[in-house]
Amino acid sequence: MRELSEIDVVGVVGAGTMGNGIATAAAAAGYEVVIRDIEQAYVDRGLAAVEDSLDRLAGSDRLAEDPETVRERVRGTTELSDLADADLVIEAIVEDLDVKREVFAELDAIVADGVVLASNTSTLSITTIAAATDRASDVVGIHFMNPVPVMKGVEIVVGERTHEAVVALAHAFAADLGKETWESDDKPGFVTNRILMPWINEGVRAYDEGVATKADIDRGMKLGTNVPMGPLELADHIGLDVVLHASETLHAELGDRYTPAYLLKRKVEAGDLGKKTGRGFYEYD
Ligand code: NAI
Repeated sequence: MRELSEIDVVGVVGAGTMGNGIATAAAAAGYEVVIRDIEQAYVDRGLAAVEDSLDRLAGSDRLAEDPETVRERVRGTTELSDLADADLVIEAIVEDLDVKREVFAELDAIVADGVVLASNTSTLSITTIAAATDRASDVVGIHFMNPVPVMKGVEIVVGERTHEAVVALAHAFAADLGKETWESDDKPGFVTNRILMPWINEGVRAYDEGVATKADIDRGMKLGTNVPMGPLELADHIGLDVVLHASETLHAELGDRYTPAYLLKRKVEAGDLGKKTGRGFYEYD
């Protein structure tokens, strides 16, 4: 396995919200980054987002260098084979087990032996993803939080076969990006989403059942439990479709206590997905 000191090039698969955030954080920490998406338009959008994040970070203690110098370390591509020289790969594509398994099988054939393949999955099994490769011991979860350049926490997920040196590398890599880590066994939702998703769904149900106004549900949880966002605003921030999808995965694995709230499904069906569509539980400009 490649040691942290041997990692120069980080491959990122998926240039969406999380992929471009991971690319930004890795480049800011001095790594060369190759970011891959399936269409040039998505690659371009990802690179533009990297540039925006770097401009926002400029002058803060999170970015020691000039943004342009950091930006030059990030290269975009539509070819997975351009990740052949990567020393570590982090996958951040759609949350779909079959698609992730396909990409991991392809990556396994492309990158050198000893290169660790990490997934940023929020809820899917690292063990099942790893089983699509011939290097299951080199597959680990490195679960960044959104927005990546700002959020300090990273969850390291240990699959059934993940080698302990690979787990240690994942912690060390995240720490090198200025993050703080914790570890979770490969169980549905890991630590964060296993606990967060029922909390959000209970907030949605409380609103739907008329316990309080949505503003008072969010105020109550913020003032009463000292969290920065209440369940309804946080759902809008994450995206209601993402919350519903994660809730459905947990429901399938863990049973009825994870049933998604009915109003969550109704809003997703209506296309009100939260901040990204301008309307979720609240309205946005
Ligand atoms: P997104 O929808 O913003 O981006 C996904 C990107 O992957 C899209 O640009 C899509 O074109 C691309 N893609 C799809 N198939 C691909 C393939 N075969 N090769 C390369 N690119 C491909 O999704 P987002 O939100 O960035 O999520 C990515 C992963 O991160 C998911 O597994 C999600 O569960 C996880 N995650 C998301 C968080 C969030 O708050 N959005 C937080 C933590 C984890």
